[in-house]
Amino acid sequence: EYMLKTVICGIEFKNPVFLASGIMGETGSALKRTAKGGAGAVTTKSIGKNPNPGHRNPTIVEVDGGLLNAMGLPNPGIDEYVKELQKVREDLNKMNVRIIGSVYGKDEEEFVEVSKKMEKYVDIIELNISCPHAKGYGATIGQNPELSYSVCKAVKKSVKIPVFAKLTPNVTDILEIANAVVDAGVDGLVAINTVRGMAIDIRAKKPILGNKFGGLSGKCIKPIGIKIVWDLYENFDVPIIGVGGIVSGEDAIEYMMAGASAVQIGSGIYYRGYDIFKKVCDEIVAFLKEENLELKDIIGIAHE
Ligand code: DOR
Repeated sequence: EYMLKTVICGIEFKNPVFLASGIMGETGSALKRTAKGGAGAVTTKSIGKNPNPGHRNPTIVEVDGGLLNAMGLPNPGIDEYVKELQKVREDLNKMNVRIIGSVYGKDEEEFVEVSKKMEKYVDIIELNISCPHAKGYGATIGQNPELSYSVCKAVKKSVKIPVFAKLTPNVTDILEIANAVVDAGVDGLVAINTVRGMAIDIRAKKPILGNKFGGLSGKCIKPIGIKIVWDLYENFDVPIIGVGGIVSGEDAIEYMMAGASAVQIGSGIYYRGYDIFKKVCDEIVAFLKEENLELKDIIGIAHE
């Protein structure tokens, strides 16, 4: 639908409803499946320098209003993963679906190496500095403004395509972190990664997840994401991709009114299936028609 066409950092998207990193991004065929479900862009699983088996089982548990996961960044490593991207790039291109390559690493060097390899196959690099439960990776960087700055700065210097930083809500002052990554020159922000949490099996008398704690996603985290996107929009001039608990068009619109130029959906697939992207797009279009508004009108409208 023409009404949803969106340009971010000079890149044209057929709609602003994207697949979030982590779910359905581990293989080329999974990416294609969500592209067929109507996503305007698909984000890969976070990919590192070396193959990573991830955390011990169980790695995911359903809780009230969401999912708690501690996958532990499982992925085949960048050299294997580019083969997956090679397989589907052409098809995704034909479907007019952009690719966002999610990258993680333990330090600047790893982030740079993986980003450079990823760059050839994707439209945007998303730096995952925000996994809540991967020792030495993720939030260790994204909770520290100096480390966040140096990783983003190093990657920005090394690649030509737009670089977005994905932020963790698990900090006292998210604006301090956002300020560091914007200073480092990132082209946009993605908010939010999952919220740290735990579930205990009261019969077994121990935490359910193999890793004991994990990251909470799904409906229950939406107000947390909305407030963070709101604050980012008030303070920075870069595009924001909103993510966290989006299941319906109304949820997506709420994020856009808070200031998101596009949104990502992960757990929502669990509630509404692979074609959630199509459904959410239809719901956004219906709303815009009812309100006699254009997409660009609603971005940040709640601040006026
Ligand atoms: O909740 C998350 N789980 N966030 C991440 O960034 C990584 C993922 C995982 O693989 O554990």
